[in-house]
Amino acid sequence: MKAYLSRRYHFSASHRLHTEAYDDARNREIYGKCNNPHGHGHNYIVQVTFSGQVDPVTGMIFDLAELDAFAQTSLIDRFAHTNLNALDCFANHVSTTENLSIEVHRIFAGFPAAHLEKVHIEETSNNSFEYAGDAKLLRGTL
Ligand code: NI
Repeated sequence: MKAYLSRRYHFSASHRLHTEAYDDARNREIYGKCNNPHGHGHNYIVQVTFSGQVDPVTGMIFDLAELDAFAQTSLIDRFAHTNLNALDCFANHVSTTENLSIEVHRIFAGFPAAHLEKVHIEETSNNSFEYAGDAKLLRGTL
């Protein structure tokens, strides 16, 4: 019996949207206030969705405590209270929530107990982003 399980995690971080591919004026035009040199913060809400077989004995796909431990080490400890732009994964990628979704997908795809279906990230109450994997990107371009 295949079932789906979603879990939400929260962290706060700052970022600035800016690409070296364009000059300052063009950056301001593209990113507006998000290009402010001092950066700004978000309370990100990350929702990860997994699928897997329901264990006939436990009645569960997997133990949520295992996922929480994985999320603590791989997501929260790494991203919470950071400047996203200073992280290695954003050294060559703009710290948009589209790119954050791809990176978070890469991370949770490594959770061994179930298959990652998708990542959903709320950046603000009005903006949310999803990423469900892409064969090319999964080979490691980000
Ligand atoms: Ni922002």
